[in-house]
Amino acid sequence: MTHQHIALLGFGNVGQAFVRLLQRKKDLLLKDYELTYTITGIATGKHGMAINPRGIDIGQALQLISTGDKLGPLSTQPSIKDPIEFIYNCGADVLFENTPVSYADGQPAVSYLRTALQAGMHAITANKGPVVHAYQELTKLAKENGRKFYFESAVMDGAPIFSLFRHNLPATNLLGFSGILNSTTNLILTRMENGDSFTGAVAYAQSIGLAETDPSGDIDGLDASVKVATLVTVLMGIPIKPADVERTGIRQLTAEDVVQAHKQAQRWKLVCTARREAELVITSVRPELVGTDSPLYGVNGTSSIVKFEMDVLPQLSIVEGNPGPETTAYGLLADFINATHQG
Ligand SMILES: NC(=O)c1ccc[n+]([C@@H]2O[C@H](COP(=O)([O-])OP(=O)(O)OC[C@H]3O[C@@H](n4cnc5c(N)ncnc54)[C@H](OP(=O)(O)O)[C@@H]3O)[C@@H](O)[C@H]2O)c1
Repeated sequence: MTHQHIALLGFGNVGQAFVRLLQRKKDLLLKDYELTYTITGIATGKHGMAINPRGIDIGQALQLISTGDKLGPLSTQPSIKDPIEFIYNCGADVLFENTPVSYADGQPAVSYLRTALQAGMHAITANKGPVVHAYQELTKLAKENGRKFYFESAVMDGAPIFSLFRHNLPATNLLGFSGILNSTTNLILTRMENGDSFTGAVAYAQSIGLAETDPSGDIDGLDASVKVATLVTVLMGIPIKPADVERTGIRQLTAEDVVQAHKQAQRWKLVCTARREAELVITSVRPELVGTDSPLYGVNGTSSIVKFEMDVLPQLSIVEGNPGPETTAYGLLADFINATHQG
């Protein structure tokens, strides 16, 4: 039996979906993994923080956030000033970091995760920023402290990619990959194919909470380039930054281009690729025409795909449909079990 104290740094869409999933899987965690937990801390940006070593009432925390209130009334330590102080005082064995991504440098998440590992916690995140900017440092730190730094949800939400390579693909040499890694642009292109304009499709993606108010991170391929750099850094062992990825977004594609391609049994996709060449890796994110013979052709709407090419498995694809905070939460749950389960 193992009992884990958990702290959540970031309690937005993903953090909230994660605690709901934890509650739903509580009996199964006990039965199959002899794993129980207490949530001892929750920290947010504008909604305050709460620490209670005896356990925070999650129903009340969700209620306070839903009404726009602060978490302070749930705290037995009301004087905590900032997230770093929160980490030192939350008494957790595992920190879940789910704050907004910073494409530029991964901060402040890198500092949060570093502090958690230094304090002897496992550090788990859905945030790709700290993975692409500090994977080697945080992994080394975790090892030195006998802890885990896991981030399954950073690329393709809860679909198993990093744990697949970590546990189930021993002695493989990853030669390259191609795929569709940005849901927003894939949805926009699908809607344009069905008659929507570029602006209309962007507005729709915003209306369902998929695209940000400023959608340029998706449309200009930045989000996809961070994911490419993350996969190359972690799975191919070649540390690169998003700026190293040759990048073109989808702005120049017109609805006419997309419709015409479809009439000729082709589709425009924002394709992510990486290919090992000697000690180097050539990477790109750019719109490409794919035909019906490509596994990418049938991956539409918010779905995503990555097709790996290994020396031993020439083609292994993972496709994820209907992503969202719930599938992201599953990646966090899988990391939690993998980090803490001994048997
Ligand atoms: N949404 C998804 O399906 C998905 C999928 C894969 C990966 N991710 C990644 O998961 C992470 C969380 O995404 P989300 O959709 O849950 O975002 P979100 O809804 O915007 O929630 C972000 C949370 O972080 C808090 N926060 C903001 N700045 C902070 C700071 N400086 N220190 C501490 N807390 C801070 C926010 O608090 P306030 O609200 O009080 O400001 C909020 O609780 C992001 O890195 C995202 O890229 C998300």
